Amino acid sequence: PKQLTIAIDGFSSTGKSTLAKDLAVALGLNYIDSGAMYRAVALYALENNLVHDGQISPELVKKLDDIHIAFQFNPTNKKSETFLNGRNVEDKIRSTAVSAVVSEVAAIPEVRRHLVYLQKNMGKTGGVVMDGRDIGSVVFPDAELKIFMTADEDVRVLRRWKELKDKGYNTTIEEVRENLNHRDHLDTTRADSPLIKTEDAIVLDNSNLSQQEQLELAISWANKAK
Ligand code: C5P
Repeated sequence: PKQLTIAIDGFSSTGKSTLAKDLAVALGLNYIDSGAMYRAVALYALENNLVHDGQISPELVKKLDDIHIAFQFNPTNKKSETFLNGRNVEDKIRSTAVSAVVSEVAAIPEVRRHLVYLQKNMGKTGGVVMDGRDIGSVVFPDAELKIFMTADEDVRVLRRWKELKDKGYNTTIEEVRENLNHRDHLDTTRADSPLIKTEDAIVLDNSNLSQQEQLELAISWANKAK
């Protein structure tokens, strides 16, 4: 039988990937970070001089077939890591430079079409938890469970700031707030598959929930969805 497909969408830094990973481990599903794929394309654009003053060159679209993205499980840290044309870019794609342009890259319809095609393929047989912005609306409209995550802005800003600080990035809380608001604005207003809550999605506001509480809620929803 086809295994469960779970779509997790929501605003930036709402803890989508944390919940998605926990849920995948708990239910024995595959976790796929669709945002990492947009970040890898953004990194490619930056490294190949295709970004000028925050504007993405139209040449990027012609290079899409040269951009190979793969995920590989690292048994040492037990994490799935992102590879761009054979190179481990897991850390680089989380940099503030990439965060600053990724939503511009993700607004390009050809980029979306290309990545959505790959994502649909990855989920063909089911058994996946994927997080992103258009997973319940476009990538897996038939997912058995759709979760839409939100949290208070201050909670999200502090979360992301701490995460960056722990990784050694030196950014201010205000810079993080600006980047989150910038991305959420672009992600919700772009013409092609903007971030929306589909009617069949369950809203999860985790401003005041622990990781464990969120996981338990999501597991109970998944059990009902089967
Ligand atoms: O999930 P994450 O914050 O890493 O995603 C980075 C960016 O990639 C988002 O701000 C959004 O612009 C884009 N994205 C998207 N569609 C997805 C996943 C991510 O447009 N499914």
